[in-house]
Amino acid sequence: MARITASVYTSHVPAIGAAIDQGKTTEPYWVPLFKGYEYSKQWMQENKPDVIFLVYNDHATAFSLELIPTFAIGTAAEFTPADEGYGPRPVPKVIGHPELASHIAQSVIQDDFDLTIVNKMDVDHGLTVPLSLMCGQPQAWPCPVIPFAVNVVQYPVPSGRRCFMLGQAIRRAIESYDQPLRVQIWGTGGMSHQLQGPRAGLINAAWDNKFLDRLIADPEDLSKVPHIEYVREAGSEGIELVMWLIARGAMADVAGGKPPVVKHRFFHVPASNTAVGHLILENPS
Ligand code: DHB
Ligand code: FE
Repeated sequence: MARITASVYTSHVPAIGAAIDQGKTTEPYWVPLFKGYEYSKQWMQENKPDVIFLVYNDHATAFSLELIPTFAIGTAAEFTPADEGYGPRPVPKVIGHPELASHIAQSVIQDDFDLTIVNKMDVDHGLTVPLSLMCGQPQAWPCPVIPFAVNVVQYPVPSGRRCFMLGQAIRRAIESYDQPLRVQIWGTGGMSHQLQGPRAGLINAAWDNKFLDRLIADPEDLSKVPHIEYVREAGSEGIELVMWLIARGAMADVAGGKPPVVKHRFFHVPASNTAVGHLILENPS
């Protein structure tokens, strides 16, 4: 059977992608940020999964106000990096895993979560920047990736509670797949940031660090935090953090297993307008 080996959490700031693509990672502004991911790239090489289930949000790139799926699973064989206005990022195309994605769709929908099935979709910085941070600049991404897009852009957005429960359903789906695949689940976006309005530039490092503590130690309690607290404390785009609860809900301890091992924790302020947070949690084997 397939199993979830680890979960990875990281911010997805587009300027990070631009710094990598334009060879600026050694500039003084960027050095401390990329230092925080050196361990992660090494860890990825030593713990290469068979598939990454990548929870992210689309930023009005593949979807628009014409169509707003709350939860969308990418079942295609491949996904092209999107043109977000400056041309597509020079990164490899994303190879999907249609068989596992279809199995997860079947299982999770029968487990009472209504997913939108997407057979054609370009993927924006929400998905490609986390891959770049964790994998560097390879010729091809190290394994197939199942994109899982969550609406955190246009209200109403899903609650942290629902995201946490969805993660549990995703774990049940993966663990009922009849192939011995090692699957990582990634939760991306966040941490505190606000890109527009009078509070543009807001960062709340104290709240973010408390979020990391609670995500590790008591995600069930953290899942009860209402949207309004994310928006008030972490800014309008801080709501992206609910996606981290999907990945955390898929970890073994939530289903009565052992607590995860914290392999890496990193926090850095700022990257562009955003507080960057990053965690790697492993399920004990
Ligand atoms: C920034 C952060 C984001 O999450 C995003 O989607 C776009 C921009 C920023 O900090 O610039
Ligand atoms: Fe974003």
